[in-house]
Amino acid sequence: MTNSKTGKFTPQTEFEPIKDFYGQDILSARQFNQGNLAVLFKKAKEMERVVEERKSDGPLKGYILAALFYEPSTRTRLSFEAAALRSGGGYISESSVQFSSAIKGERLEDTVRTVECYADLIALRQPEAGRAKIAADFAKKPLINAGDGDHEHPTQGLLDVFTIQKECGKIDGLTVTMLGDLKYGRTVHSLARLLSLYSVKLNLISPSFLRMPKELVSELQGKGMEINEFTSLEEVKEDYEVLYVTRVQKERINQREMPAIAAHLQDFDKLYALPPEFPGQSHAIIMHPFPRVNEIPMIIDQFPKAAYFRQVQNGLYIRMALLSLILKGN
Ligand code: NCD
Repeated sequence: MTNSKTGKFTPQTEFEPIKDFYGQDILSARQFNQGNLAVLFKKAKEMERVVEERKSDGPLKGYILAALFYEPSTRTRLSFEAAALRSGGGYISESSVQFSSAIKGERLEDTVRTVECYADLIALRQPEAGRAKIAADFAKKPLINAGDGDHEHPTQGLLDVFTIQKECGKIDGLTVTMLGDLKYGRTVHSLARLLSLYSVKLNLISPSFLRMPKELVSELQGKGMEINEFTSLEEVKEDYEVLYVTRVQKERINQREMPAIAAHLQDFDKLYALPPEFPGQSHAIIMHPFPRVNEIPMIIDQFPKAAYFRQVQNGLYIRMALLSLILKGN
């Protein structure tokens, strides 16, 4: 099959690891391997300097990003927009279904084909799992999945791995503990897939009704990942270097499941929120994709191991790096 965006021949298999970022869609963490992550992370470090030096002639001079966000977002949309601006490019943005032609019944396929007449790259967030891939198949310009329902959020996973590497100085040999809603939280799905490229041990802690999907756990185990599942943080006896906390994605729990789950959700804060004295007992860095609700008390923010705002900052560098690699080449 010939890639309509680069004119290059690419095999038809669904998610091949990216060899050259130029013209690529970013749809899933499955497109990455250690090699292309190293390229991305090196570029992200260059981007830190572009931001520090406030370069007006950044790599994206003359380019425009379109941010189409049909689900709530603060960080991801603003960080894509800031990434375009900080790289010397511009952006156009739509952040509400209410004011978009979608409300009149326009298909997403038509929207992306319209928007690419104005912009060079599309970042798309929408609520349906797998729909980013369909939209990308219709678009001639590159498209980045900025979150498709409960499926994936690859750029969040990328900035998470970049953060882990910066904070811990390595990825191989680490144990990462994920806590919270591992069923509907798309960030943990993408992050777990990326971590499976390394020799990383995974602890998964969630209530039984919010466990990581079985198929994903099998996919990760199939790659040789050691995974242990628990229902509370106290059950984890061995040391871990990273604690990744998530909120309950209440908006994704369907009507049918809700009555059964609602009663348990009241216990969630008790069982899955970190106690204020937590950092005192832990050597692990603490991460969170945000937004946080009650999972991490604000007092924990002052501890050096609380990495979540540095994680946000790294998101800017990673998205700048991606935009630059996709639009200008490696
Ligand atoms: C997450 C998302 O939207 O998937 N946030 C983010 O993009 N940083 C997590 C969440 O909504 O809980």
